[in-house]
Amino acid sequence: MKVRNVFLCQSCGYSSPKWMGRCPDCGGWNTLIEEKISDTRISRPAGPSATPVPLDEIDYAESERFLTGIGEFDRVLGGGIVPGSVVLIGGDPGIGKSTLLLQVADRISNTSHNVLYISGEESPAQIKMRAGRLDIASKGIYLLAETSLEEILGHAQKIPHRAMIVDSIQTIFTDQLSSAPGSVSQVRESASQLMNYAKKNAVPVFLVGHVTKDGAIAGPRVLEHIVDTVLYFEGDSGHSYRILRAVKNRFGSTHEIGVFEMREGGLEEIVNPSSLFLSERTPGSTGSVVVSSIEGSRPILTEVQALVSPSPFGIPKRGAIGVDYNRLLLLVSVLEKRVGMHIQGQDIFINVVGGLEIREPAVDLGIIAALSSSFKEVAIDPDTIVFGEVGLSGEVRAVTSAEVRVKEAAKLGFKRCILPERNASQLALDSIEIIGVSTVKNAVEAIFP
Ligand code: TYD
Ligand code: MG
Repeated sequence: MKVRNVFLCQSCGYSSPKWMGRCPDCGGWNTLIEEKISDTRISRPAGPSATPVPLDEIDYAESERFLTGIGEFDRVLGGGIVPGSVVLIGGDPGIGKSTLLLQVADRISNTSHNVLYISGEESPAQIKMRAGRLDIASKGIYLLAETSLEEILGHAQKIPHRAMIVDSIQTIFTDQLSSAPGSVSQVRESASQLMNYAKKNAVPVFLVGHVTKDGAIAGPRVLEHIVDTVLYFEGDSGHSYRILRAVKNRFGSTHEIGVFEMREGGLEEIVNPSSLFLSERTPGSTGSVVVSSIEGSRPILTEVQALVSPSPFGIPKRGAIGVDYNRLLLLVSVLEKRVGMHIQGQDIFINVVGGLEIREPAVDLGIIAALSSSFKEVAIDPDTIVFGEVGLSGEVRAVTSAEVRVKEAAKLGFKRCILPERNASQLALDSIEIIGVSTVKNAVEAIFP
């Protein structure tokens, strides 16, 4: 076995024989770190070789998935856990990754099923303390404080288990490599061996991943390519709720989110997120409007706020939280040019309440409404919701799933909905008044009658 030194980029996995200040692949500065890697010849693992099989002869039943009973978690995974899948969960320190996985372990273990919880960071006593706080008394959770991959796989063969949790992948190392735990080659190698283990034994494996300062899962991007599912656990320290978001999922939609709240006794799922995001609204305030956006398969109503005020300096300021900044600039220009609202010279800020990010164009009309309301200093009727995509010529374009959005609003007691004309013409609901608009100008007239 020949050992050689290479420089590996810690953020994208690029390898170079010499040191460079900047990674030519991902452009990161000072990300190339020297690591020893061994040139081992890759040989086929022992065992029968696979043969091609016709698609219709493969048996797989969707029923092989099993549920944890934590509805929000199951939904984000695409409808439960797929045996043999590897799920990577990333998130800031202290956000609740270990708490979530301990609660998951509690739900899927019982007298006949074990869960193996491997901790490379905390001692069994610390985990026991957390379990006490969460009121977990399951007899099927086996804790193992170990960081050597070979040891872990050895123990895994001895204790039959229904799922394995590895907290965190950055602490795990394999003897086959001489580089330090947490280095790119170690993380990559450990993850792919755990992947092999999962597939071979049809056991789901959950990996906790640390995130770097800029929010990406630490270690090479290839880690995200190796695993089947990548989830991010998000939230900010100022709020108690947490959002679990799928960014990659081989077994389901990537747009799903799960909403939780961190309480004294652990994470509690929020079955109706709309009511949570709207709970602190002050009806009658200017620049505020409720929009209906779709996250995965589910509509979520959120409040969008705008603040438009005369700019004290020559160059007006712009700021966007929760929506795309460039989208905001575009919509400001549409208001100026197509509606004749002289808003360009003002300081403009947009905020989606509750730390939610709305990435779909249906929020456009909501931004327009909030901006106009703040600019005109006229409040929007609190029982109205707004959604629709806005084009550069000031037209309002149809969006997907209009009916689901309107029904969610009706369910929460909203009385009026302003939406694209094309969507409105296909809807027949009598629980809520529906106003179709085809241009931004129409929309502003409908919002401020
Ligand atoms: P933890 O799961 O340790 O975070 P991570 O593994 O992502 O680093 O969660 C730590 C935080 O959660 C900690 O600040 C305390 C809080 N917490 C609660 O508020 N209630 C609880 O029941 C538990 C277990 C933790
Ligand atoms: Mg932790």
